[in-house]
Amino acid sequence: MEYSIDRFAAMTESAIAALKYPATAPGLYEPIKYALASGGKRLRPALCLAVYAALSHRDPAEVINQALAVEMFHNFTLLHDDVMDCADIRRGRPTVHRRWGENAAILSGDAMLTMAYGLLTDNAGDKFPALFEEFNRTAMEVYQGQQLDMEFENRSDVTVAEYIEMIKLKTSVLLGCACRLGAIAAGAEASVCDSFYAYGVAMGLAFQLRDDWLDTFGDPAIFGKEIGGDIINKKKTWLLINAMAEMPDELPAILAEDLEDREKIRQVTAAYRSLHLDHRCSELANRYSADAITALGNVALDKDALAFFTALAESAATRNH
Ligand code: IPE
Ligand code: IPE
Ligand code: MG
Ligand code: MG
Ligand code: MG
Repeated sequence: MEYSIDRFAAMTESAIAALKYPATAPGLYEPIKYALASGGKRLRPALCLAVYAALSHRDPAEVINQALAVEMFHNFTLLHDDVMDCADIRRGRPTVHRRWGENAAILSGDAMLTMAYGLLTDNAGDKFPALFEEFNRTAMEVYQGQQLDMEFENRSDVTVAEYIEMIKLKTSVLLGCACRLGAIAAGAEASVCDSFYAYGVAMGLAFQLRDDWLDTFGDPAIFGKEIGGDIINKKKTWLLINAMAEMPDELPAILAEDLEDREKIRQVTAAYRSLHLDHRCSELANRYSADAITALGNVALDKDALAFFTALAESAATRNH
């Protein structure tokens, strides 16, 4: 069995290319095809496929629909997230709402959510109830996380603990869900499902911390998104929460000042660097990646599978896109 992110991503790309769309109202589907064809990392389907293969020793193609359901759901959340975050660029291209307008982002997003359910339940057999329950619970948690993310924009007293809970909901649980769906489909016992879920959630914390890091310190040409959006939107990232605590006079003053976006981003970024928050954030992300690997400690895995899951968890904290 070959475990590589490229292999699982390629399987996902082929399945996306083979998706069929109704002929009525093709304008509904153009943004969906555009969003799905724009080259995401395919991390979530890769997790589902890899966990299934590692636990069942069967062909991961057997769960491609469930893997695709998670990727479809993820892309649905991105269409709406880019409206909520006023984001112009994703994966190096204009976002759906920039290209087709907000109505398209809402409605095509709705269609993607429904398509995700169709994929999840396709050929699910006797695993249907467990897969469905896992997916539903996760979806509600993602919406809760997105709600908190927005509410935090208007608060200045958000704690690190609240931030971790928020990113767990908006991002981590979907990685955990992708793992658990693979484990459920493989017929794994509950403790193994739980271990892989814990792996995905811890990895997701590293992943979102790195996303926030990249939003300030990344290279937009590689990251594929604009830099500084979190600062302009007053997102309560780990970086901003710590900077506010450690520079209680200077930082709120910079944020409140009537500066051009670029100048505000420059000043806040300089404050982060002066506090070494770039390094400290990376250290914390690395710790969550290590937690992810620890979570698999009691799961019996082939050498190749363990090496794959270890490298993937590490890359969550060190990736550049
Ligand atoms: C973006 O997710 C949204 C976050 C949870 C940070 P990814 O970074 O996985 O996006 P793609 O699918 O690879 O573009
Ligand atoms: C995204 O968080 C989480 C979800 C889409 C559910 P972000 O808003 O940080 O993601 P990006 O940076 O736009 O990809
Ligand atoms: Mg967001
Ligand atoms: Mg966003
Ligand atoms: Mg982000």
